[in-house]
Amino acid sequence: MIEVRDGAFLLQTRTTSYWFALTQHGHLEHLHYGPWLPAQDPSALRVKRTIESGASVVYSPDDTSYGLDAIPLEYSGIGQGDYRLSPVEVHTAHGADLDLVYRDHRVLAGTVPSGGLPTADGGPGVQTLEVVLADERAGLELVLLYTVFPDIDVITRRAVLRNRGGSVAEIAKLASFQLDLPDRGYTIRTFDGGWIHEAHAHDRPVSSGVFSTGSTTGASSARHNPGTLLFAAGADENHGWAYGFNLVYSGNHETSFERDQHGSVRVMAGIHPQAFRWPLGPGEEFETPEAVLAFSAEGLGGLSDRMHRFVRAHITPAAQRDVPRPVVYNSWEAAFFDIDEKRLAKYANQAAKLGVELFVIDDGWFAGRTDDTRALGDYAVDAKKFPNGLKPLVERIAKLGMRTGIWVEPEMVSEDSELYRAHPDWALRVPGKPAREGRHQQLLDLCNPAVRDHIVEQVGSLIDDNGFSYVKWDMNRHMADAYSPHVAHPGMTAHAFQLGLYEVLDRIFGPRPHVLLEMCSSGGNRFDLGMLRWAAMIWTSDDTDPIERLDIQQGTSYLYPQSVISAHVSASPHQQTLRDTPLSTRFNVAAFGCLGYEYDLDFLTPEEKREIVEQIAFYKEHRELLQFGRFRRIPSGRRGRVIWQVGEGDAAIVGNFQRGVRAAPERDLLPVAGLHPGVVYRVDAKPQRIMLDRLGALVNHVSPVRLDPNGLVMNVVSKRRSLPDGVEGYTGTGELLAAGIRLEMQFSGTGHNEALRMLGDFGSTLYTVVREDSL
Ligand code: DGJ
Repeated sequence: MIEVRDGAFLLQTRTTSYWFALTQHGHLEHLHYGPWLPAQDPSALRVKRTIESGASVVYSPDDTSYGLDAIPLEYSGIGQGDYRLSPVEVHTAHGADLDLVYRDHRVLAGTVPSGGLPTADGGPGVQTLEVVLADERAGLELVLLYTVFPDIDVITRRAVLRNRGGSVAEIAKLASFQLDLPDRGYTIRTFDGGWIHEAHAHDRPVSSGVFSTGSTTGASSARHNPGTLLFAAGADENHGWAYGFNLVYSGNHETSFERDQHGSVRVMAGIHPQAFRWPLGPGEEFETPEAVLAFSAEGLGGLSDRMHRFVRAHITPAAQRDVPRPVVYNSWEAAFFDIDEKRLAKYANQAAKLGVELFVIDDGWFAGRTDDTRALGDYAVDAKKFPNGLKPLVERIAKLGMRTGIWVEPEMVSEDSELYRAHPDWALRVPGKPAREGRHQQLLDLCNPAVRDHIVEQVGSLIDDNGFSYVKWDMNRHMADAYSPHVAHPGMTAHAFQLGLYEVLDRIFGPRPHVLLEMCSSGGNRFDLGMLRWAAMIWTSDDTDPIERLDIQQGTSYLYPQSVISAHVSASPHQQTLRDTPLSTRFNVAAFGCLGYEYDLDFLTPEEKREIVEQIAFYKEHRELLQFGRFRRIPSGRRGRVIWQVGEGDAAIVGNFQRGVRAAPERDLLPVAGLHPGVVYRVDAKPQRIMLDRLGALVNHVSPVRLDPNGLVMNVVSKRRSLPDGVEGYTGTGELLAAGIRLEMQFSGTGHNEALRMLGDFGSTLYTVVREDSL
């Protein structure tokens, strides 16, 4: 709900309030963003100023205590005495001087659509407040948009700059929002990394000066995700004040946190200003990406829940939003570029028997694509690998009961390609400078309408001609050479490229809402809310090692729900870490996302196949909970031990993961959160097996005959026999389970029975929790 009274603007959600008010000089003073407050006289929240502060610049000679440097503002200007970083820098005939004062406002039902950028969908009770600020002298008008999502406790913000003057104004910076908060001993949490180590959480205290994080790669990037958190002293997973910020944007971005001399903390986020320029002609307007703001007084867990619900209900494509994501098989880690009809048909037969629902033909299917040095841009089927085209394979896969998906990388071109030979000017290129390639490829110039038309036609007909119901859209290099002759200023290129990309996605997937799009960028290099407006899921990382994934998926989970986190089971030892992990753990981690397998299925033992069949059946049975249930990171109190929970109320699944074992392991406690008090639940460990070859010579502790661990018999037996692992089950009320189950002992060198948890290094177990009266 939005209430405007006596120059004060109060934005209310179910549990939060956002409040600001006009000052006597027409600036917008920020009053509060935090727990819900009833409408009242806001004087107590205003910054007190009765005397002039030393070394400050006063705004008006009649009011010497009014210095903008000390006032928390909704959106500052430049040159008026506020010396904190400004969210805006626009060059006009008066330089960058800008004094933004209130002119008008209105409250609208629903959201306000953008003219080219992705923005969140509306819903019941959603309202937007538009506040118009202006600087008459500069001939500029700035519209601040606040959209309130009451049920989800989220507020989105963006800014639109209008040139009302008679000459060009050049934008150098325009942040999506500014938020000035009183300091509460905050910590900033960012999600950083790179290829195969995405989204690792990093904390640092807010202290004097500016901390800035962002990307200048032309994509949101895995270096620094656009989503950040800010939490107050004393806050933890379940308690205390926590803020979350994100951008519905996929290009260069920056978020900065500045603590000033008065102990006020200014947060800003938007398009990264480096190398950015946008000339704005008379009568033109420029809009920023939409920023997402959330607050929770229930710590980081509460914050994640709000962000998850927001992404699920307002960001992911409406037609796919509530549709369970299928169990995928993907050819990449099995065969890389070495695919052909025969090999894929064989994998398809095997995948169908395992229970797979969607078979993805990854890279390597088009003419000349034998490795990554060539052919990007030419999406004609390789006639040597697929002499009958792709359609017969798609039909064969359909007969096996699966859908088919296809890999493409439409924003790129290889120099060694027909497309490049025909249109060398279609690649982004700085005149007179050799191309700076990455993975032997260049970016197509999506600022060029002809390029956009070509991609729309090419990908559209690929989907339609072959009946694909899924597309994996990859993007494997960052932007260098950011110059396009199709924009008025080189500084526009990176942002105009994003606008071009969004237009292309709209034109391809808008008319094909049934097609499931999975975004990918060398793994999770473009895991952002902009992509999620078209993609129902994103490939989280090329790293499928489950122990690495504990960090990657956990980091991602702070701002993105598990229904968008694509997670696959692959071979062990792992291709990037050489780590040898149990098949059970590879599944148990991937189960907290959209499940898939990337495996050379020829090399699975019968016992592994049996386990995978059971894994997929378990996943399908509990898919609603696993993909759409409330996700929680349960504090384990112990380094190296991770506990995740999905679901609450009537049913939940809890995963207990151990990175490294210690001799005589401590007893583990498994708390289950969010259950009904007084209701009795049944908790069971998901049946899983320990493969005999993991035991080596220890197998003789359980074998009736003595086996040589390296011998032929053991080799044969271990492919066909396994031992049940960690069989345990309990009943208890919601309160009892919240206190925590003392789990069975772990293996510690003496004896074996089926209840013993054979976790060792990298072991894990899933536990199902259901109301006993529902059994
Ligand atoms: C990078 C992706 O992250 C992989 O999953 C795979 O699709 C390759 N590209 C294909 O080239």
